[in-house]
Amino acid sequence: MGAVITGWGKCRPPLSLTNADLATLVDTDDEWISERTGISERGICHVETTDMAEVAAHHALAAAGLSATDLDLIVMATVTPEISCPSNACVLQERLGAVNAGAFDLNAACSGFVYGFASATSMVASGVARRILLVGVEKLHFVLDYRDRNTCVIFGDGAGAVIIEHSDEPDVGVLGVDLGADGPAGSTMVIPTLGTRGELSTFRDPSMHRLHFEGQAVYKIAVKGMTDSVTRALGRASLTADDIDLVVPHQANLRIIKAATSRLGVPESKVMVNIETHGNTSAASIPMALCDALDQGRVAPNDTIAITAFGGGVTWGSVIFRWGDRVARLQTSDATLPAPTGDVFDVLAANREFYSSYHEENSDSSDV
Ligand code: UT7
Repeated sequence: MGAVITGWGKCRPPLSLTNADLATLVDTDDEWISERTGISERGICHVETTDMAEVAAHHALAAAGLSATDLDLIVMATVTPEISCPSNACVLQERLGAVNAGAFDLNAACSGFVYGFASATSMVASGVARRILLVGVEKLHFVLDYRDRNTCVIFGDGAGAVIIEHSDEPDVGVLGVDLGADGPAGSTMVIPTLGTRGELSTFRDPSMHRLHFEGQAVYKIAVKGMTDSVTRALGRASLTADDIDLVVPHQANLRIIKAATSRLGVPESKVMVNIETHGNTSAASIPMALCDALDQGRVAPNDTIAITAFGGGVTWGSVIFRWGDRVARLQTSDATLPAPTGDVFDVLAANREFYSSYHEENSDSSDV
């Protein structure tokens, strides 16, 4: 019995932070960002993580022709949970009225959706669950420093969701999986806070709050990690790169995507990319790109798809799977986020204020 995707949806927040906007915040320009990352603009969320997850979930449920009460499990992959307990998946369960569903959060950073997909499809294939909602969602701007040009230009906010159900069709579902981690390399990408480390304090330390990464080290880990991981997953499926119809990679950086897929020998025409308008949205990037691929008619019935990611941990993962027979939505939803009351600079004003004294003390030249 195969486990297939029967519904898909996404929520790209309405507020965009363009490269030109960023050039008013830090010492950067459109040319540098476009050439080094492939990103032109990214979504910035004016509400909460779970609000984006809820919108994406409504679209995915409609596409599958299901009600929330049909779900028996909700899995949410995120490194930017709104709160730590209850889990964000439980908050979403309440919002959706998914009274028959279990719910839990999962953290594998940018690999979260791939880890979630491997877990959820296994649970469906083994009969533990019949209908699972898997959401990848991030409100990354909350852990970024919009006075640090090294990190703030890359990331965006958003949510993507899929419904995974069993299928009686022959030869569909997961064909090969590779999941891995390298804890000792974990210091290359860190969000030091949003956890229990340290003493109680009324003061939130900017240096402990902001995301830190070593760009070039991560770049190398990413290219090698995704290439090797897809190769292992293909081997377990007894397939080669020629058998892949579409790769939907984590949208980390266009250069990383191009380097990894070219090493694999997959032509650009078979690689889904939407980083230009979405930025790097960590656990949300693959389900949002998958959604766009379906909307653009780039997925055909029974296609062989590869999803692959790397991220903090360090983690990586790839799943090769065969799509089912339906690539059109059964129904649509009009779910949407509430309209923002201000502009993107209003959303980032508190962030700029928060990091102001930190950069005065550390005299960071990238601040403008
Ligand atoms: O999802 C996983 C999360 N992390 C990632 O995906 C990050 C992976 N790494 C990358 O994507 C790339 O390493 C970056 C995009 C972060 C950086 O690109 P790079 O080609 O590795 O640039 P670099 O770090 O070697 O920096 C080159 C120069 C430096 O100036 P100097 O020392 O040569 O004078 C930087 O200070 O570019 C400078 N720079 C910038 N200039 C304009 C760094 N950030 C910027 C910026 N605008 N935003």
